[in-house]
Amino acid sequence: MRTPVVAGNWKMNGSKASAAALLNDLKAGLTSSTAEVLICAPYPFLDQVANVLNGSGIKWGAQNASQHGSGAFTGEVSVSMLADFGCTHVILGHSERRALFSETDELVAEKFVATLEGGLTPILCLGESLQERDAGKTIEVVERQLMAVVEKAGIHSFSNAMLAYEPVWAIGTGLTATPDQAQEVHSVLRTKLAQLDVEVAGKLPILYGGSVKAANAAALFSCDDIDGGLIGGASLDANDFIAICQAAG
Ligand code: G3P
Repeated sequence: MRTPVVAGNWKMNGSKASAAALLNDLKAGLTSSTAEVLICAPYPFLDQVANVLNGSGIKWGAQNASQHGSGAFTGEVSVSMLADFGCTHVILGHSERRALFSETDELVAEKFVATLEGGLTPILCLGESLQERDAGKTIEVVERQLMAVVEKAGIHSFSNAMLAYEPVWAIGTGLTATPDQAQEVHSVLRTKLAQLDVEVAGKLPILYGGSVKAANAAALFSCDDIDGGLIGGASLDANDFIAICQAAG
């Protein structure tokens, strides 16, 4: 049985003041969540996040990481630096990074390996555009994205990772995938990995992301292969995010 996971992706939002208020509200409101809960904040807030959440049971992570360990990579942040701030997880390959910052399947795979080598848990994001879905290419796209990482990192690396299926057309749009749509893709992803290692595939948390709200979370999380959510907009509101975590477990 997989532990439900709810991760909040703050994206590029907030201030020190708003982060302090949100973190303290989450700390107070999530004292009894049976789900694994984590917050992925912008880099500048990680020290503040660590100071507030340390000992709370809520984990925290980042939204990206360099594939490099150190050196002349201006503007980059290494996995070891994230570990210094107590991060346990790193979101990788988010569709916004793939689309807006030209992150390729190969680069995401390199980041995935570096994250594992640094002792952190990668949350590998996969998802198709509306054009790709309308063209019937959803499975082709997410399998391509997944296998690029499997081929570089190996199937056993997924025993210390998570997946997040995030249909691009559902991100920030209010157009949530139906539970059936999401379950179909999650099942395909798990089956694809099970062809390589049944145990790794069976234990792998596969999160859904894309307009998850308090109102739709329970229906999504009730699906056999949906193990929780990667939450964007709703993670910026304490009450909404707490309600989603409660729906997960
Ligand atoms: O990483 C999660 C994010 O892409 C989903 O965003 O606002 O649709 O929940 P949102």
